[in-house]
Amino acid sequence: MKTIDIKENERLDLQDRLDFRKTQIERNRLGQFATPPALAVDVLKYAFQNMGGGKKHLRFLDPAIGTGTFYSAFAKIFGLRSSHTAIGYEIDPHYGRPSQKLWRNFPLDYRIADNHNRIADICGNAHIHLYRAVLLR
Ligand SMILES: C[S@@+](CC[C@H](N)C(=O)[O-])C[C@H]1O[C@@H](n2cnc3c(N)ncnc32)[C@H](O)[C@@H]1O
Repeated sequence: MKTIDIKENERLDLQDRLDFRKTQIERNRLGQFATPPALAVDVLKYAFQNMGGGKKHLRFLDPAIGTGTFYSAFAKIFGLRSSHTAIGYEIDPHYGRPSQKLWRNFPLDYRIADNHNRIADICGNAHIHLYRAVLLR
């Protein structure tokens, strides 16, 4: 099994444990509902095909990273190249601290901080367009 597949299994387990410790009402406040892994992989496959899968230097950003569903899919589809850079923001330490620990040996700059919306405006829309593209296929 590949390193990223092992890590993804650890992430799924962590996601379950962290979600379980919060109520639905608490999770609703910050929209703390993870993307299904298969959808994240589909989005990244689409990105690979349409945004230059062969490119050497890619910059990944998730403004609301949670446990790292999209980063995991990014690493799986684009590979763990040292030339890629990756940043993720997570406002809630409940998800942030254990997830930062989970990814500590990966080239991901995991920041427990507010994304200050301006990033979400850009990337949130990009995600929505990608979802739409995937759903329309
Ligand atoms: C819908 S979840 C998505 C998590 C992950 N990207 C996924 O697709 O599974 C949104 C995450 O963003 C975090 N979040 C909400 N507002 C934020 C903000 N202003 N800055 C950083 N993270 C934020 C939440 O705590 C939550 O973990």
